Amino acid sequence: MNTAVRTEAKPPLRVIVVGMGVRSMIYSRVALTNPELLEIVGVVDINERRREYAQLTFGLDPANCFATVEELVAVPKFADAVINGTMDKLHVRTSLPILRHGYDMLLEKPFAINEEEAAELLTCARETGRTVMVCHVLRYAPYYQRLKQVVESGEIGRIINIRLSAQVSYFHESVSFVRGKYASAELCGSGMLLTKCSHDLDLMAWIMGSNTPRRISSVGSMFQFVPENAPANAGTRCLTDCPAERDCPYSARRLYIESPQRWADNVWHDSNMRRPETDEEKEAFLSAPENPYGACAYRCKTDIVDHQSLLIEYQDGATGTFSMTGGSSFSERRIHVIGTKGEIYGTFETGRFTISTIVPEAPEGRLQHVVDVTEAQANCHHGGGDREVVLDFIAQMRGEPTSPGKTLLEDSVTGHRIVFLAEKSRLANGAMQDW
Ligand SMILES: NC(=O)c1ccc[n+]([C@@H]2O[C@H](COP(=O)([O-])OP(=O)(O)OC[C@H]3O[C@@H](n4cnc5c(N)ncnc54)[C@H](O)[C@@H]3O)[C@@H](O)[C@H]2O)c1
Repeated sequence: MNTAVRTEAKPPLRVIVVGMGVRSMIYSRVALTNPELLEIVGVVDINERRREYAQLTFGLDPANCFATVEELVAVPKFADAVINGTMDKLHVRTSLPILRHGYDMLLEKPFAINEEEAAELLTCARETGRTVMVCHVLRYAPYYQRLKQVVESGEIGRIINIRLSAQVSYFHESVSFVRGKYASAELCGSGMLLTKCSHDLDLMAWIMGSNTPRRISSVGSMFQFVPENAPANAGTRCLTDCPAERDCPYSARRLYIESPQRWADNVWHDSNMRRPETDEEKEAFLSAPENPYGACAYRCKTDIVDHQSLLIEYQDGATGTFSMTGGSSFSERRIHVIGTKGEIYGTFETGRFTISTIVPEAPEGRLQHVVDVTEAQANCHHGGGDREVVLDFIAQMRGEPTSPGKTLLEDSVTGHRIVFLAEKSRLANGAMQDW
């Protein structure tokens, strides 16, 4: 973690937030908790309510609140940097003029939605000499930082095989990837592998270090959320015409009214709705015919996959696999790295991983010990990475020591490229793609 103590009396980093949504609100909190480090001085958002939120929360000068990036770059530069928290398909489109206008940037992942866009952004950053840091927040979680240290220490030897998996709970899957803003390429610009699991493939790329892939194949499909899987007597909308509603795990009433702790907040936020006060308000909202959150989860017009697996061969012959599954009973990320001298395995959410090394003289032929970072990650979303990435960006901008896991744009390329090639393979029936 980036725990460098910053005692020098430097002014806070002055930042403009572009896209004042869920993610930017999280990052901007650093300006409230640590005003000596970060000051939000402007906002760009097409949504008037989000601009108002920013103006009120950070006491912004109305002259520094813009509806579009075009308006922002029409005025002289007035801040040190930008936090870009727009949706996936807008990342490159919004970043190019901002970089050309002289702003450095903390940019949400995925930094681009295809290879062409990625190349365009890299070229622009290189030509303008601007810094772009990508929000691969998991690299900052103590769990993965410690795991990376163990790999680098040589304790498990050279990596033979690395396996990662990510499963997404049925309530997160349905609110985000079936009914919500990530449900189609049209809405979000990318599929579930890129938008959700670019984190996991970034971690794999980081752990494998300079050992880049040689070839990649991938298969996957939309398995569950198709009309054929709807209960026999299902209707089209949970609250209005569905006799199967009480027995369905995807009942909008059960998920968003009766169990609000299961990601229901996303419904109100992503619909730009003020959080409803009463059940009646929620019912009326979810019953509206055009509201995607009240629609039968099996009849949504998703065009993305809900499960996908990758097989990767590395330059030195090592292998890697990754499996993503949406719609599981709970969310979890697992990792298992097997080296020539031992292995590491664990589950991110537990905050613990085990190191098992080959020791012929030991009674079981091996020795094991557990690394426990539960305390360091307690009560932190993304293991604390959401805050740490902002602190690291500030450190980078101030020329102070940064995290060993920092994700400048060029550090993020391999993980993104794995996704792009995996998608190419999946669309070609799993055909191997050369790096
Ligand atoms: N790093 C992570 O762990 C992580 C987690 C979740 C999401 N994300 C990524 O964060 C990004 C934002 O997600 P979110 O949930 O905050 O989305 P959001 O919809 O809450 O926020 C996006 C904001 O952009 C604004 N916007 C739309 N068009 C705009 C434009 N042309 N110019 C300026 N603003 C515009 C919207 O009004 C909205 O306020 C996505 O790319 C998503 O994939 C990252």
